[in-house]
Amino acid sequence: MKIQIINGPNLNLLGKREPEVYGSQSFDAYLMLLKEKFSSIQLNYFQSNIEGEIIDKIHETGFDYDGIILNAGAYTHTSIAIGDAIKAISAPVIEVHISNVYSREEFRHVSHISSSCKGTISGFGMNSYSLAVSALIEIIGTK
Ligand code: DQA
Repeated sequence: MKIQIINGPNLNLLGKREPEVYGSQSFDAYLMLLKEKFSSIQLNYFQSNIEGEIIDKIHETGFDYDGIILNAGAYTHTSIAIGDAIKAISAPVIEVHISNVYSREEFRHVSHISSSCKGTISGFGMNSYSLAVSALIEIIGTK
């Protein structure tokens, strides 16, 4: 089973960025643990601060991978183009947020990607990604 994790803008700064909101662990450190936990699954990781690069990665993996875990960061709340990219592909996409976006500012309550995703996991810290892998395993079954 092949899963692509895509992180959007500012998520390269996890561990340093607003640790009271996003925690103090870097994504690289977390990814190592995630790969150990799901050792039978090929977990590929991509991060970009650029909207078009995120769209390109969705296109590139969206017909070939078994699923995509997407934390689009602030593009979640603004990007119709990322929403359209998710609609265009066949792989199931799980929307992920580290923080609980619904307990934060109102502009974070709007998502342009949720309606195209299988589901959303928000508010469980880094563990949101692990829950998303489990959700994909349930959806797809082990391949
Ligand atoms: C986020 C929530 C977004 O509102 C924010 O812009 C982010 C991170 C999260 O993981 O909690 O960059 O997606």
